[in-house]
Amino acid sequence: MTTLGIRGAFFDFVDDPWKHVGREQEAARFHADGLMVIEDGRIVDFGAYDNIAPRHRALEVTPIADRLILPGFIDGHIHFPQTRVVGAFGEQLLSWLQVWVFPEELKYKDRAYAADAARRFFDNLLAAGTTTCQAFTTSAAESAECLFDEAARRNMRLISGLTGIDRYVPADYANTPEEFYRESKRLIGRYHRQGRSLYAVTPRYALGSSRALLEACQRLKSEHPDCWVNTHISETRDEIAAVQVEFTDCADYLGVYEKYGLVGPRFTGGHGIWLTEDEFGRFSRSGAAIVFCPCSNLFLGSGLFRIGRATDPRSRVRLAWGSDVGAGNRFSLLGALDEGYKIGMCNNAAVTDAAEAERNKISPYRGFWSITLGGAEALYLDEWVGNFEPGKEADFVALDWTAGPSALAWRQSLVGDRPRTVEQAADLLFGLMMVSDDRSVDETWVMGKRLYKKGE
Ligand code: GUN
Ligand code: ZN
Repeated sequence: MTTLGIRGAFFDFVDDPWKHVGREQEAARFHADGLMVIEDGRIVDFGAYDNIAPRHRALEVTPIADRLILPGFIDGHIHFPQTRVVGAFGEQLLSWLQVWVFPEELKYKDRAYAADAARRFFDNLLAAGTTTCQAFTTSAAESAECLFDEAARRNMRLISGLTGIDRYVPADYANTPEEFYRESKRLIGRYHRQGRSLYAVTPRYALGSSRALLEACQRLKSEHPDCWVNTHISETRDEIAAVQVEFTDCADYLGVYEKYGLVGPRFTGGHGIWLTEDEFGRFSRSGAAIVFCPCSNLFLGSGLFRIGRATDPRSRVRLAWGSDVGAGNRFSLLGALDEGYKIGMCNNAAVTDAAEAERNKISPYRGFWSITLGGAEALYLDEWVGNFEPGKEADFVALDWTAGPSALAWRQSLVGDRPRTVEQAADLLFGLMMVSDDRSVDETWVMGKRLYKKGE
């Protein structure tokens, strides 16, 4: 058994800050001098140093000084095979897929290419402070195998699955529904709940799915009800119009996934920018989650997600945040918080309901909860990750508030040499999300092991 202690300034969450309007700090927890005790990768004790240390006399303690230690970030929606097409010029969703994405993803039939990309993918995530993700692969089983294998090598928590598509796609890229069913089934047997891996049945999106492919998904989900389901929904208006033409028997976009029995707990739909009021209500009641991907939504010009609607307490929707790399132009979830904040403010140029306008404001509490505990809850991962509760896996990131762009300096000056209160820590975090990026990520730890150190 390996036991170690980490001493430093810890910031995590115990509740949803949107439930604590005007007193959001009640949802957070800050120990200016804290101690986390880790045994075999799991947190066994956590709290103020003076309270915890006497219980662990012979503990070997690693100090992480002058950093804010947060739970590792959770990226609810990312495309592993788009690592090499980040920042592709000039197209919106449907043409971007054809011009840039399918030709690149086609290369993932080559196992060596896919394995190399998987290493780069996790290197990028760790450098951004992200320790858990839900990731799309390609239509080739090799891509899913390389991703799961690389995650296992690093002992990282991953939700993923073979990504099925058989319509509106080049013929050499498409799956057949039979092959998709057979290969998904094999991959579930090999990876689901092995180590930290979890399997998601993954129809890419309704527009790219024949009825036979959706029936294959339905069969997989009914045979493996504890698997996740991951897909896209209502990202652009022309996509929705095309879905309505294809699925005239479904009232709306969510209705397609409902018809095939996919919507419920552990279902996630990326984007949801153009969902109707009725769809938001059904998301809320079913326990399914939306993933908000601000960088992507702005990069492709898809639209402004209604954060204030999704967080309406009268029918709250589970909400994770994602980078959506490569439509998202950066891996950093600090970058997602930056752009998400701006989307909230843009929404408020038109929103007239004062309560919704208030909910559109991404405070540091709302932002960092969303990429830690909130993301974990939305994706049904909170029994393992999301905060520093004993029993959970010791995934965390050490943020350096003294690094990053020089524009951060004025925020540091508000706090002095180090944050002493939860409000001061939150103030620094707001500076990090709005002004900084990966430069502030100093160390990333997975299951009690340091896997990334800036500059090494
Ligand atoms: N919809 C279907 N496939 C994709 C994809 O790769 N990226 C995004 N952003 N939307 C999609
Ligand atoms: Zn996506």
